[in-house]
Parts: sequence; C-alpha cells; structure tokens
Amino acid sequence: MRPAMLDRIPEFPFHRLRALLDGVVPPADADPLALSIGEPRHPPPPMIARVLEDQAGLWNRYPPIDGTPEFRRAVAGWLRRRYGLDAVDEDSHVLCSAGSRESLYLAAALAVSEFEGGPEPLALIPNPHYHVYAGAAVMAGAEPRFLPATEDTGFLPDLSALDAETLERTVIAYLCTPANPQGAVAGLDYLAAWVRLARDHGFLLAVDECYAEIYCGRPPPGALQAAAPGFENVLAFHSLSKRSSAAGLRSGFVAGDAALAAKFKHLRSYGGASLPMPVMAASAALWGDEDHVEQNRVLYRAKFDLAADMLDGRYGFYRPAGGFFLWLRVGDGEAAARRLWGEAGLRVMPGAYMAAEDGGLNPGAPYIRLALVDDTDTLGEALNRLVKVLR
Ligand SMILES: Cc1ncc(COP(=O)(O)O)c(C=O)c1O
Repeated sequence: MRPAMLDRIPEFPFHRLRALLDGVVPPADADPLALSIGEPRHPPPPMIARVLEDQAGLWNRYPPIDGTPEFRRAVAGWLRRRYGLDAVDEDSHVLCSAGSRESLYLAAALAVSEFEGGPEPLALIPNPHYHVYAGAAVMAGAEPRFLPATEDTGFLPDLSALDAETLERTVIAYLCTPANPQGAVAGLDYLAAWVRLARDHGFLLAVDECYAEIYCGRPPPGALQAAAPGFENVLAFHSLSKRSSAAGLRSGFVAGDAALAAKFKHLRSYGGASLPMPVMAASAALWGDEDHVEQNRVLYRAKFDLAADMLDGRYGFYRPAGGFFLWLRVGDGEAAARRLWGEAGLRVMPGAYMAAEDGGLNPGAPYIRLALVDDTDTLGEALNRLVKVLR
C-alpha cells in the first residue's frame, strides 16, 4: 500500500512542544509565560475596528479571489514606496492571500504544475525553516531537499553548494528573509543570485517576506527588487500578521511574475481562501499607513536592546538583522525547553522542531527559539528566569 503523504509531514511544532512538556509541571508560584509562539501581542491598530465597522454592509458579498481593486492598489502603492518598484502593476502582479501561510502552501502545487522537475521534482528548503514549506512540498508531490542555513552559512542557504542534478529537478525554492527562526536578512546580491538561478533552471523562487517590516537597522531588501523590472520566476509573500500585529485578520498578499500570478489566481480560485470585503478594506488602510508600523518597530527595538543587555555573551546571543525571534544556542534545545517549563514556567520552542533531520543531524537541535512578542516588562521577567535556570 502507498504510504499516506500526510504521514511524511512532521507533526506541527506546537503539538510536538505540547507532547514534550506533557507531565512537566511548572512551579505554582510562577505565572506561565509563553515565548514559544510568534503571535504578536502588541495592540492591533484601532483603524482595523473602525474600518470593519464602516464596511459592515459588505459582509453579505462574495469577495473576488484576487482581491478588490482598492486592496491591490494599496499593496502596489506600498511596494512602490517600500522597494522603489515602479514597474509593479496592481492588476497583473498582485493577489491577495489569507495571511501568507495559505499561499506559501499553495505555491508548491503551482510550481509542480508549472515547472519541469522530471518525475521526482524537488523543493529546496532552508534548514531550519518555517514548517509549512516542507508540508507544502510533500503534499504537492515534490521531495523536500533541505539546504543548511546554519551559523556556518550565515544562517542562509549557500546556493553555490547546489549541484546540476539538484537544479535540474528543482521546481521551487523557498527562501525566508528575514528568516524565521534565525533572523538573517538576505542582501540584494544574494537575492539576485537566486533569481538568476531560478531563471536559468526554470523554477519558482518563493520568497517569504512576512517579517520584512520588523528590523532594527536598515530595511531588508526584497526579492522583487532583485527581480525587477519583469519579476520572472519570482513571487514574494507578505502579511499584515507581523507588520500590523494583526495575525487574526488573516491578511496577506503575493506579488511578482505576472504569468505566475495569473496561474496562481486560477489555482487559488479552487483551493485558496478569499478575504472578506471588510477585511480587504481594513487591509488596504493598513498598507497605506506607516505610523503604526514604525511604532511597532520601536517596541521591538526596545526588547532587543533589553535582550542584548541581559544575554550578551551567553548562549551565542546575537542581535538578528530582522524578525522578532532570539535563536539561542543552549546545547540541547529539548532538554532546555523542559527545564525552563518545569523550573520557571517559561515556554520556549526547541530549535529541533523548526528544522528537519538531514543526514542524521538536526541543525536546530542545539537551539531554542524565543518570540519577543510580549511587552518589555514581561520579556525582562522571562529572561531573568531563563538565565537563572540555564546559568
Ligand atoms: C516564516 C513565516 N512565514 C509565514 C508565516 C505565516 O503567517 P501568516 O499566515 O499569519 O501571514 C509565519 C507565521 O508565523 C512565519 O513565521
């Protein structure tokens, strides 16, 4: 009997964490603190509620699968301002998406349908990575090929290590910048090298940029800058979940190659989730506003300052170029997660659950991932507890 494809997908990281901590009892006198999940806890901008109320007359409408013209115009305007992408056209380059996860998942099916990878198509996936890429690849019938994205490679995959046979079979390469969990940011030259590779070998370069607006120094470049003006072979995936602390809105977009966007629209009209009209109106307002995004960044910067004060010199601490995670080298990430929960009521994600075992080695195993999503005081309390337990 053919093995079930779903059985080849690792358990969801949060289920694995629950199983790991099952039976471990946190101290009765320590309020549990969860740094395990990348769910922003800054207050969402009040404009969301305002627009949803104003547009409440639209809940009875079936929304267009690719987004309203107003939504796509707002996104295209943001892409022009943020990345200087004068060539972007709201009608041919932009589609809405129910958060970025949905379309990152469907991107593998699009790639398997559109590109020649032979009978055993490959999906290139950084390791560690956001777990959805691997699940998407398997369910689309592509074999995941994990590319080390470790300290040795600057936490991004080394594309010069790819051989001809691998490139021949590749239908999609996922990249994430700023990367979850490592926080590495891909430079423009690096992105341009991937774009060339995707075009030379005929595969989809799917670049997850959902953390693009969370950074401490310079704004991370985008894959579409490297692919302009035509964007051939490239799709970038964005979201309001992190930028606007609005994960519950389920609002994102895909932008890039016009031919692929048209095919993606076709695919999404079967399997994609549409965004309710009032949600699209609120999203358009959010993409048009930068004040709340800058305020958000100020809050994250303060937390990275605090973490640097408290952790510098320990656990391989480094200040990531983007995103809102700490990726700390603690020896055995699973053991540390159990101790932190049992001794301090602190929930963290073992790095092993953010990576795949490859060649008998899991590159995430020595790490834990901390999401800096709470307020500064709560983070200070959490880090105090962490250093007491993991001296
Ligand atoms: C790297 C990465 N990509 C995509 C997503 C999906 O986010 P959303 O669907 O809310 O945009 C997440 C969520 O945590 C993520 O960490």
